[in-house]
Amino acid sequence: MRSLLFVPADAPKKLDKAMTSGADAVIVDLEDSIAPDRKGAARETAAAFVREAMTATARPRLLVRVNGLSTGLTDDDLDAVIPARPDAIMLPKAEGAASIIHTDAKLAAREAIVGLPAGHTRIVAIATETAQALFVAGTYRGASRRLSGLTWGAEDLSAELGAEANRDADGNFLDPYRLARAICLAAAAAAEVQAIDTVHVDFRNETALRRECEDARRDGFTGKMAIHPAQVAVINEVFTPTAAAIAHARAVVAAFAAQPGAGTIGIEGRMYDRPHLAIAQRLLTRAEAAGVA
Ligand code: COA
Ligand code: MG
Repeated sequence: MRSLLFVPADAPKKLDKAMTSGADAVIVDLEDSIAPDRKGAARETAAAFVREAMTATARPRLLVRVNGLSTGLTDDDLDAVIPARPDAIMLPKAEGAASIIHTDAKLAAREAIVGLPAGHTRIVAIATETAQALFVAGTYRGASRRLSGLTWGAEDLSAELGAEANRDADGNFLDPYRLARAICLAAAAAAEVQAIDTVHVDFRNETALRRECEDARRDGFTGKMAIHPAQVAVINEVFTPTAAAIAHARAVVAAFAAQPGAGTIGIEGRMYDRPHLAIAQRLLTRAEAAGVA
């Protein structure tokens, strides 16, 4: 998933628009973009939308962001949306393996009740929204086969830290959030799941968005969340492997295939070893998913 577009669950017009936005995934939000007294109505719109959208051909992946485990709202969220069979739920304010195992059990119960195959519903977790979350980010590995991605957020973390700002005057994230970003990246790599970059809230600034996408890709993120449809094209473009990158990855794979058992090989005067092969294979998988390989 290169682009994951957030849509408030109580905004039917935006939900429809998101389906044709070109986003690889749509995240129907029941959490921060929904006022407390509208949660019930939003659950109903979310379930109706997902049920309908699941039947579309060539549809984006459909995620629902539920409310965090400490809110007491998660069970009602899941009761409402799991019968609509979303591809995944997004778990905000996740705190390591314990919260994934807890959510896995909740999902398993609902899947059994509605007759879905066990494990159908994947989990993408937001791994840096509380201070405690930063200290348990190393525990996601092996927590659940449902876990398919980790992402990070700066807004809730800055509130929890009591910060006055999370970006400097030039719009760059300050140290605590750079740390959260790096922790998310390492946590995802350790858990062998996708690392997804956080939202860029300044949605009219395409130049800044592009730079943030390129920085993220450089560091190992393979997708980014969006809050506005205008952000989708840039995100998809930056996270689609280039023709040159694909050609290079194919050359690495072919060179290792030509020398079975070799641990290290040389291509055009540079050394490549097994980790390079794994990187090349992952890039080709992403290229295939993006329809360019
Ligand atoms: N998904 C789908 N469509 C969206 C959208 C989104 N996230 N954000 C905006 N649009 C639509 C608008 O409805 C509008 O449609 P129209 O031309 O048919 O009227 C069009 O795109 C242009 O919108 P624009 O006027 O530029 O923005 P806005 O002022 O209406 O909305 C936000 C700005 C930030 C309120 C809106 O982008 C939004 O709701 N984003 C998601 C917020 C969210 O889910 N946050 C939680 C995660 S951080
Ligand atoms: Mg939040």
